[in-house]
Amino acid sequence: MEFRDVVGHRRMVRRFDRRPVPHDVIDRVIDVGRRAPSAGFSQGLELLVLDTPETIATFWETTRDPEFGWDEETVTHGPTVLILPLPDARRYLDRYSQPDKIDFGMDEEVNWPVRFWEVDAAMASMLILLAAVDEGLGAWFFGITHGERELLDRFGVPGELRPIGIIGLGYRAADEEPSGSWMKRRRRPLREQIHRNGW
Ligand SMILES: Cc1cc2nc3c(=O)[nH]c(=O)nc-3n(C[C@H](O)[C@H](O)[C@H](O)COP(=O)(O)O)c2cc1C
Repeated sequence: MEFRDVVGHRRMVRRFDRRPVPHDVIDRVIDVGRRAPSAGFSQGLELLVLDTPETIATFWETTRDPEFGWDEETVTHGPTVLILPLPDARRYLDRYSQPDKIDFGMDEEVNWPVRFWEVDAAMASMLILLAAVDEGLGAWFFGITHGERELLDRFGVPGELRPIGIIGLGYRAADEEPSGSWMKRRRRPLREQIHRNGW
């Protein structure tokens, strides 16, 4: 697909059919994500991939918020693949401890004006969303409000890692209807968002 078509077709898809996504397709999508830039080329992103009915069921059970629980529709028609982008700050601190970077003083986390490991994880996630469109998949980026540490522990994720969100992938359900905030809110005009040569 042409780049503009990929961007133009990308929309959060929240309803999927049950057809499994082949491993090689998942790997290709993630490989595009790995092309994202990273500060100092630290490459400190780990990805937990859940792609079996059992592991996906564990995800929904563990992250069900007692107050805003997942509705049955979300679970029954949810993504068949879940990817957790997990930035590892340690790799950035190690990278910025090397001779070509040490003078910046960013070998300590408190000295980072922006947590670039999270920025890089977001950049990789965006590429994954776009690569999914290119592979004929639907993708959904969403957050969890409950059970994060329990979820990570269930899958043996090291204690210092936290996901920036969840990427759901799968084949879009034939009856999927566009949904989400963009249906009710207008896109801000370009002129309003650009501050050319000053505010
Ligand atoms: C950081 C981030 C967090 C989001 N969290 C959620 C979420 O928890 N649940 C959800 O349904 N959509 C979530 N979205 C999707 C947005 O609602 C969606 O991107 C926005 O309404 C624009 O629609 P579009 O992506 O289909 O163009 C999130 C998107 C981003 C970038």
